[in-house]
Amino acid sequence: MTALDHRLSIAPMMDWTDRHFRYFARLITRRTRLYTEMVTTGALLHGDRARFLRFDPAEHPVALQLGGSDPAEMAACARMGADWGYDEVNINVGCPSDRVQNGRFGACLMAEPGLVADCVAAMKAAVDVPVTVKSRIGIDDRDSYEELAAFTDTVAAAGCDLLVVHARKAWLKGLSPKENRDVPPLRYDVVERLKGDFPVLPMVVNGGITTLEQARAMLAPFDGVMIGREAYQNPWALAAADGLIFGDPAPPPTPHDVLDALFPYIERNLTEGVPLNAMTRHILGLFHGRPGAKAWRRHLSEHAHRPGAGIEVLRAAAAAVARGRILHTGKPVAGAPADRIAPRFARRGRG
Ligand SMILES: Cc1cc2nc3c(=O)[nH]c(=O)nc-3n(C[C@H](O)[C@H](O)[C@H](O)COP(=O)(O)O)c2cc1C
Repeated sequence: MTALDHRLSIAPMMDWTDRHFRYFARLITRRTRLYTEMVTTGALLHGDRARFLRFDPAEHPVALQLGGSDPAEMAACARMGADWGYDEVNINVGCPSDRVQNGRFGACLMAEPGLVADCVAAMKAAVDVPVTVKSRIGIDDRDSYEELAAFTDTVAAAGCDLLVVHARKAWLKGLSPKENRDVPPLRYDVVERLKGDFPVLPMVVNGGITTLEQARAMLAPFDGVMIGREAYQNPWALAAADGLIFGDPAPPPTPHDVLDALFPYIERNLTEGVPLNAMTRHILGLFHGRPGAKAWRRHLSEHAHRPGAGIEVLRAAAAAVARGRILHTGKPVAGAPADRIAPRFARRGRG
């Protein structure tokens, strides 16, 4: 796989795509590119850098998304990211929140293509990994195709290696960030026209894509597809991605394979003082659509946030899935937690 294989990626999502979710996602798909939450230059330059940059080697390929607009600071943070081992550094030019606007970054930067280009150029001079931009198709009433094309031209000329386009505009005033992900209509046609006009610039389309079939069809006009909410809320939607999108012949994992791999990861992090809930909040959808899913979700939701909650909560949740499965089918299923995972971890007697 080349450094710029972007055929499928999971979008940067604040509070959602932290390192624990990314580790979980990586167990479901080995090939899909992962993005961090947006990290501001202020957080990296003045905050607990390790907390924001830390990731597990299993997460590769993984991209760091930066929020900022000072070229020298963006370059310094890109260098930090590259030194930490990130495979790509991405600039957030799509987030419309007030906080981000006050800091003069995010979607409001679409109105300042020269500044984004200065950031790209400074970052390119600082790192060897690809420097990419994630944008919208416009903001407020500055949403003409000509303006989008001029923005693209400017950042491409500065050396931007790839553009991810969320195929809707953002209203900086009047809509919340959540509304800005649903209300402005999706305009894949606009992104397709942009790709047609910039055939050499690798372009990834984002927004409203919920199935791998849809993603695969979009690989005809585009170089890649980025999936956000669906990947988080229904991570199994991506289980067949390695085969369907990347042509990898290895079979997709089962939820039990993933759970197996999660136990040592969670135990290790608990030992380091990470609260159980910080990890389990991302895996409530592990058995989505399968027998026992409700019991799994309920057990974790009720117990994982309690002070001192340890690996025994996960073990009990696995046992609850097994019971749910037995109730549903009338008998334990080979390889299900009832006869495999729960007793195995129970036997170890840890936690
Ligand atoms: C909870 C949440 C947090 C988000 N945080 C970011 C972010 O930090 N940076 C960013 O560029 N986009 C962010 N987004 C936008 C997504 O990356 C993506 O562009 C958007 O959700 C549309 O894709 P989707 O329809 O596949 O979800 C966020 C979206 C959600 C739902």
